Amino acid sequence: MKGVILAGGLGTRLRPLTKITNKHLLPVYDRPMIYYPIETLRNAGIEDILIVTGGNSAGDFLRLLENGDELKVNINYAYQRGEGGIAEALGLAERFAGGEPICVVLGDNLIEGNIRDTVDRYRAKGEGACILLKEVDDPERFGVARLEGDQIADIVEKPKDPPSNLAVIGIYMYDQRVFEIIGALEPSARGELEITDVNNAYIEAGKMSYGVLDGWWTDAGTFDSLLRASHLVAEGGANKLG
Ligand code: DAU
Repeated sequence: MKGVILAGGLGTRLRPLTKITNKHLLPVYDRPMIYYPIETLRNAGIEDILIVTGGNSAGDFLRLLENGDELKVNINYAYQRGEGGIAEALGLAERFAGGEPICVVLGDNLIEGNIRDTVDRYRAKGEGACILLKEVDDPERFGVARLEGDQIADIVEKPKDPPSNLAVIGIYMYDQRVFEIIGALEPSARGELEITDVNNAYIEAGKMSYGVLDGWWTDAGTFDSLLRASHLVAEGGANKLG
């Protein structure tokens, strides 16, 4: 299984911090943010990684990470022009995936624990998609799962009136069908190809499974969540890479 880290986007919610650099190069406690999703994948036994980035600082990823030797992974790079959405960025991974299943991590998502069990379960099945859910206090900031019994009925992106407090975290497992689904997507009202539309396509096809994440999870894409991420890492537990 291969790994894909999505680290494009303009980071507008973090301006002026992101005026001259990429969000995923900002510090989270003692390391650049991008180290943490790399560690998430490596802990799951995934060492072949594509980083999709964009903007003017793309070359800085290469200077920081080189080919991944120091972090004991193999790093490849792809460039996203503009900010056409998470699903658009993922579409750039098609050739890298080469027909294998992939584990996708959003570059601003940090976790305390290890997703290896969920990844291994998905690997054994080898098809469809798998997502991870986490109970949160502020579901309206995320994709939110609506459950019927123990099945996911659908996912609603940033709902004003959340159907549950189960956020869809930014770690997704897909088979090669994901690229067909992305190819058929239409941009959302905010002009992006949405990862939630990809996940809903798998749900409609009856090909979605899910796990519930143990330990803390945070994004780091707003001032408050970036600060929280640093505190959580500093207090211990999280990734020990590099
Ligand atoms: O953090 C989890 C949430 O991430 C999910 O619950 C949502 O369903 C999902 O849509 C996403 O929501 P955000 O609004 O927080 O996504 P954001 O625009 O902050 O993008 C997250 C990462 O995806 C970002 O760190 C870099 C990458 N990205 C994003 C865009 C829009 C790209 O690589 N290219 C892009 O064009």
